[in-house]
Amino acid sequence: MKNILFASLLALALAACGGSQEQTATSADPDALTPGQIADGIGPVRSITLGPVDAALAAAGEELFTVKCSACHKMTERYVGPALGDVTVRRTPAFVMNMILNPEEMIKRHPEAKKLLAEFMTPMANQNLTEEEARAVLEYLRTQAPAQ
Ligand code: HEC
Repeated sequence: MKNILFASLLALALAACGGSQEQTATSADPDALTPGQIADGIGPVRSITLGPVDAALAAAGEELFTVKCSACHKMTERYVGPALGDVTVRRTPAFVMNMILNPEEMIKRHPEAKKLLAEFMTPMANQNLTEEEARAVLEYLRTQAPAQ
């Protein structure tokens, strides 16, 4: 009986603790994410609208991809991580950029990224790209997408 009482007090104390923390650090519960975070991922990039593909930006992105990403990703086959050729079809642009810029939090808190981690068993590395560089890589990935 004493133990049960102690356990419930502990649970209450923990809950109170969680409640006083910043919103971004509340819990690993996917329900804690906003619909925007579910769609666009967790990180610095909010929902973005893309224009036509910018070839120069895509070329810069390809160079970055070769150096920073190709050790783990291919376009049409799974490798250390998932194939990325169709990622801009499967995910929103902001999701892709947030996965590049904030993989640690994505794989901890986002239900889709958590599923990927469970499947690939390797945490995606943060390659320390700037937001501009991540945007360039996104542009390159757009050029790899299968025609719709
Ligand atoms: C150390 C290996 C590694 C490197 C380097 C890496 N990734 Fe990943 N990436 C992964 C793994 C593994 C996953 C699946 C999630 C997990 O297990 O953490 C992933 C997931 C992703 C996803 C989500 C895919 C989806 O289906 O939603 C994107 C987008 C992505 N990576 C892009 C990149 C880009 C762009 C780079 C280069 C800047 C990069 N990754 C560098 C291993 C890596």
